Amino acid sequence: MAPQLDPYFKKVDELSESFIDRLRKAVAIPSVSAEDERRPEVVRMGQFLADELKKLGAEVEQRPLGKQPHKEHLDLPPVVVARYGNDKNKRTILVYGHYDVQPAQIEDGWATKPFELTIDDKDRMFGRGSTDDKGPVLGWLNAIEAHQKAGIDFPVNLLCCFEGMEEYGSEGLDDFINAEAKKYFKDADAVCISDNYWLGTEKPCLTYGLRGCNYYSIEVSGPGQDLHSGVFGGTAQEPMTDLINVMSKLVDNQGKILIPGINEMVAPVTEEEKKLYGPIAYTMDNLYESLGSKTGIFDNKEQTLMARWRYPSLSLHGVEGAFSAPGAKTVIPAKVTGKFSIRTVPDMKPEAVTEAVYKYVKDEFAKLNSKNKLNVYLQHDGKWWVASPSHWNFSAAAKAVKQVFGTDPDYTREGGSIPVTLTFEEATGKNVLLLPMGSSTDGAHSINEKLDRRNYIEGTKLLGAYLHYVAEEKMT
Ligand code: BES
Ligand code: MN
Ligand code: MN
Repeated sequence: MAPQLDPYFKKVDELSESFIDRLRKAVAIPSVSAEDERRPEVVRMGQFLADELKKLGAEVEQRPLGKQPHKEHLDLPPVVVARYGNDKNKRTILVYGHYDVQPAQIEDGWATKPFELTIDDKDRMFGRGSTDDKGPVLGWLNAIEAHQKAGIDFPVNLLCCFEGMEEYGSEGLDDFINAEAKKYFKDADAVCISDNYWLGTEKPCLTYGLRGCNYYSIEVSGPGQDLHSGVFGGTAQEPMTDLINVMSKLVDNQGKILIPGINEMVAPVTEEEKKLYGPIAYTMDNLYESLGSKTGIFDNKEQTLMARWRYPSLSLHGVEGAFSAPGAKTVIPAKVTGKFSIRTVPDMKPEAVTEAVYKYVKDEFAKLNSKNKLNVYLQHDGKWWVASPSHWNFSAAAKAVKQVFGTDPDYTREGGSIPVTLTFEEATGKNVLLLPMGSSTDGAHSINEKLDRRNYIEGTKLLGAYLHYVAEEKMT
């Protein structure tokens, strides 16, 4: 029988202002995991979540993860784990999310203060972390609260695992999940992660695949200190010249990866797979809208989706140590570190990718005959994940989508990465579902990141409805 959800939905609507307040408080904590000096804010954000969960009656623990690798002076922020309900007659659902965010500074071009939730006349709620991933994480808490206030029995036992280092490669979390799979997480019947986005702005999706991410640094150094380009230009071998040379050989402007061996690792497209792309509700205009331009590589949807979901990509991210301020400083930087990453897909092995990268970068540098020094290293790698959507976890979510949004979801893969997804699947042996809240225009990681009020409130309904359907869905 379809669960009676109207009282729950009504309560979510009634409580929507206080749910937005909860998001406002969360966005106000600048929990940037990549900035060492902001580690206390990350910890404060974990504490905020723990306090909120405790107020809702959950049993909460903050588990330490030890020191940050390569930065032993820094403690990793704790994992916030919680249990809400312990009824042997109910299913147990494990939900994961992250409470850290990407860096943000108003100078980057934000129209509003990044750590102040600002709602415009279109009910867009701007703020760093609004969609990635504070809104979705709070969605679970909101769902608990609305059940309590509506006097509706919570349909499942909920286990929460909220981490504070996701945007930095989920340091320390793999070991934690592996250690707790048969302990804290042992009752889990299925896993749900709300940390991705709809393909467009209207149609919800259920996601069954993610790309992995191998992130590299190339360091080139030579001179003992930064130099005057008038005095030393033409006489010193410049690290930046070498770095740009090497970086320019990694990928071409059609997205083709130039490192030998990488493209050969990619699983071939099957006839069956080809048929999946056509029916997906996605248009080139969706791409252009979220790009904010018409500068896509391909001019059709199939190639675009394939390039995003099932082929690898290589992106150049930046150069540490390079002169990047406004103005015209005539400097020769003494040491520069270029950053790039490769999104990986089936059947690429992270270690094999790294081996190919090291060899190629060193070979290309050697061709330059430079007296400078090169060092290439892996910052972190995270595995890709592709699962089967024919599982009761997915069919329950599809019913919830239908009830809340009146449409069937699309089944999608994604180009982004959540490093621990595969870890949850392998360690618990349970099905993992990605159930997004935000939309394609939210601009995660960009300036003016936002979550639409509708996505937050209807998304809270969706997460709650999913728990009702997953409680009674027949095993498949
Ligand atoms: N929420 C994203 C993952 C994501 C992005 C899923 C886009 C689907 C579409 C997550 O917070 C994220 O940004 N992950 C990082 C992981 C990286 C640091 C290993 C990413 O994808 O860059
Ligand atoms: Mn995220
Ligand atoms: Mn992110």
